[in-house]
Amino acid sequence: MKTLIIYYSEGGSTKIIARTLSMHLKADIIEIEDLKKRSGIGSKLVSSINAFRESKTEINPSTLDLTDYDLIYIGTPTWANNPVPAIITLIDRCDWKGKDIILFTTMGSTGGQATLDRLEEKVTLRGGRVVQSFSLKTKDKTPEDIINDTETIIKMLDLKMYGA
Ligand SMILES: Cc1cc2nc3c(=O)[nH]c(=O)nc-3n(C[C@H](O)[C@H](O)[C@H](O)COP(=O)(O)O)c2cc1C
Repeated sequence: MKTLIIYYSEGGSTKIIARTLSMHLKADIIEIEDLKKRSGIGSKLVSSINAFRESKTEINPSTLDLTDYDLIYIGTPTWANNPVPAIITLIDRCDWKGKDIILFTTMGSTGGQATLDRLEEKVTLRGGRVVQSFSLKTKDKTPEDIINDTETIIKMLDLKMYGA
């Protein structure tokens, strides 16, 4: 079974999880970039509004061919209790029919479950089947903490089983 990890990360936390998963699960990995500038004064507010409204954005790569993959992880930071615009945009552009999906999100403190619920709704509508999901709080955590937490989640949720 071939596994792919797709993620977006602004500050690096979601990227650490994606890389740790990829290493332990021997999965391919693709970072989705948002081509809209999201740094500078006021950008957090604008990004939160964009996420809340589920505004589409320009992304790179602009779409993905998932034909080769049976199991796909989708990772996003939580913005305003929602997935980020880049991931919302990508989900609407891909064919998820027949794919097993594992969702994950990082958050400062709250809103992860709402993000996971919204992601599940969207991929299910497009034919994907969500088999597992998890969230991780990143506030005050070092990169090492996030790696350790991810390794614990891999064991606790028996993630290696899904790709076997
Ligand atoms: C625009 C924006 C909105 C955010 N909204 C939330 C939120 O609603 N709840 C929360 O707990 N954290 C929120 N955060 C914090 C991020 O979810 C958290 O820092 C996450 O781990 C960032 O992932 P990244 O480092 O991969 O970008 C927000 C951060 C940004 C930049």
